[in-house]
Amino acid sequence: MKVVTVLGARPQFIKAAPLSRCLRKRHEEILVHTGQHYDENLSGRFFQELGIPEPDVNLGVGSARHGAQTGAMLEGIEAVIEARGPDAVLVYGDTNSTLAGALAAAKCRVPVAHVEAGLRSFNRSMPEEINRVVADHLAYWLFAPSESARRQLAAEGITRGVHVVGDIMLDSLRLLPGLEEDPGARLAGMGLEAGRYFLCTLHRAENTDERGRLAGILEALGRIPGPVVLPLHPRTRARMEAFNLAFPPGIQVLEPLGYLDLLRLLKASRCVLTDSGGIQKEAYYLSVPCITLRDETEWTETLETGWNRLAGAEPGRILEAAVNLPPSGHPHPDLYGDGRAAERIVDFLEQGF
Ligand code: UD1
Repeated sequence: MKVVTVLGARPQFIKAAPLSRCLRKRHEEILVHTGQHYDENLSGRFFQELGIPEPDVNLGVGSARHGAQTGAMLEGIEAVIEARGPDAVLVYGDTNSTLAGALAAAKCRVPVAHVEAGLRSFNRSMPEEINRVVADHLAYWLFAPSESARRQLAAEGITRGVHVVGDIMLDSLRLLPGLEEDPGARLAGMGLEAGRYFLCTLHRAENTDERGRLAGILEALGRIPGPVVLPLHPRTRARMEAFNLAFPPGIQVLEPLGYLDLLRLLKASRCVLTDSGGIQKEAYYLSVPCITLRDETEWTETLETGWNRLAGAEPGRILEAAVNLPPSGHPHPDLYGDGRAAERIVDFLEQGF
């Protein structure tokens, strides 16, 4: 089987690592990097750290408005599909690279496999929601992380080709060596103590592109009872400059971190505040309370357990959540499988031929 895998943004590198390894044992994979993320900090270092092979093709599309960025990807991916003649095209998650990969494949009549199918925020103003809805409706194989994702697909009339395989990010986490190391010395170098600081990540357009929301989140971070560490996404940095917003005192701002560094900092934190999708689950897997800086989440099971709270961008809500974290020993059921999604996905792809 010959598979074209389309990647472009940081979370996709993390998701692709375990599946790529598993797929390449028995099949040919052609890796296409759209170039959506191009900074070494957001892209190159993840390939090295996760042992992902060099992309066969890098489309180098870079940053642009959604139409121009997605259009450039579409053109590039179509050319690769025509030149290489794959049996399937594999896409991950909900970025513009996902949308372009799924659309290009469908137009070329190559079956699409969508990993992380069936997630919904029900907020169509998010670019990610548009991307995932379209990808699901074009896909031939839909690899869902949970039964609730399967039910959502059924509610939209999609029942064929749906397989609940668990969360591929749990595979990535399970296969990562070095997470057990004691971060004490590293934390001490940053003036931090395990279990006593807050980690924050912030990059979603809905938060960064609205001055009021961004200012509200920054105000809350300044009032949180404890040190806050914030590895800063370039998008957020750029928007803060444009809006003339400054960091309140007490926030340690870092460059974007690699996968292992971020997970270590997460694991030892008191709590994470984030608008990322992936970190909500990683926090859960590592038994770290999460405050989600959004008005809705696709990972609703994490809310039901009490380990994740939705706080939007309003300082009062964020602070209230930060002082009412789940107590130690709070129940922690398995939510998204056993970390063996990659093997199942390869099995289903093989059965499809
Ligand atoms: C994208 C995804 C988002 C995902 C996130 C992970 C879409 C619509 N959004 O958001 O779902 O959670 O990746 O990080 O696909 N930039 C750089 N260097 C880079 C990449 C981006 O400086 O390597 C800056 C540019 O100013 C760019 C802005 O970030 O205009 C936005 O980048 P883009 O990739 O479009 O979206 P993200 O915000 O990263």
